[in-house]
Amino acid sequence: MNELRDAANIDSATSIAAVREAFEREFERFARLAERGEALSLREIEEAGRELGELKARYTGRKSPLAALKKQIGRVAAEERAAFGQRVQRLEAELSERLEAAERALRDAGARKRIELERLDVTLPGRRPRRGHLHPITLLRQRMEDIFVAMGYAVEDGPEIETDFYNFDALNIPSAHPARSAQDTFYTTDGLALRTQTSPVQIHAMQRRRPPLRIIAPGKVFRRDTPDATHNPMFFQIEGLLVDRHATMAHLKGTIAEFVRRMFGPHTRTRFRPSYFPFTEPSAEVDYSCFVCDGRGCRVCKGAGWIELGGSGMVHPNVLRAVEIDPEEFSGFAFGLGIDRMCALMYGLDDIRLLYENDVRFLEQFA
Ligand code: DAH
Repeated sequence: MNELRDAANIDSATSIAAVREAFEREFERFARLAERGEALSLREIEEAGRELGELKARYTGRKSPLAALKKQIGRVAAEERAAFGQRVQRLEAELSERLEAAERALRDAGARKRIELERLDVTLPGRRPRRGHLHPITLLRQRMEDIFVAMGYAVEDGPEIETDFYNFDALNIPSAHPARSAQDTFYTTDGLALRTQTSPVQIHAMQRRRPPLRIIAPGKVFRRDTPDATHNPMFFQIEGLLVDRHATMAHLKGTIAEFVRRMFGPHTRTRFRPSYFPFTEPSAEVDYSCFVCDGRGCRVCKGAGWIELGGSGMVHPNVLRAVEIDPEEFSGFAFGLGIDRMCALMYGLDDIRLLYENDVRFLEQFA
């Protein structure tokens, strides 16, 4: 009987030692990992934490050798029970203490690592958004506007989609008129079209303001053109219109002459060539002396000494009548200038299409 008890005791004592030893063997790796802490990657720390959890379950869980030892306490001989129980308890305390310490160390290392990874250096210089600037056509348009505004003109806006009435009829271009096909354009199904010129704003302005009036109307126009170095199906014009009592061709010439002087310098000269537009009578095309060679002839003006500015003329009585202005009481002059070609000439561009491609490397040169 005694022998058996001893055997059981020896057995129990051996078991405690065996469990401790086995634990030590397996645990050693975690003790080392926990010590290295932040030298590990976050993934390694998390992985170690998971494995440590498994180890804990295996050694201290319900089916663990520790649980088996605890059950054994009851079966040990009465006089040995207290001592055995204490030893089992000590083992349990030792195991959980060591496990907890390693868990804590890994948890802390993980937290520090996470903070480290997510840390923002608020002193780092930020990535600045690229600063934009105005498009060269806008820059030029604003210069032109400033000159006319200084001469008392108001800047008027009009729709880019027009009815036949505004784009053609009211401008003295009836439906059978050959000038229509010259400005054939993008039509929609219900009698609307992209405006082919800024001239329809003349009609809107006269309806809105009634004479006397002076307006300019910058904006986009659309033509059925194949793009090439000097053409684009969309381009910019500035329309001008003055309607007053006793307005004459002299006022038109004076106004245009003053505009080019302010635009290109006081020595700039103008030249009016007879022309035809349905909405003006008489009509004239305007040239100005080349701003590069001053009229001697150069590459920019292609040897001519003159550069085309646009069309102009005295407002046709039919146009005034279309908006119920009495041509006996009022007269007016109008002009239409292209912005794009002037822009290309002034900036020395050999291809007008550069202005519409929005290539930042190109546009940046005009900041
Ligand atoms: N609208 C004409 C065009 O696009 C330009 C023009 C010519 C406008 C004579 C005018 C003008 O106001 O009087 O070709």
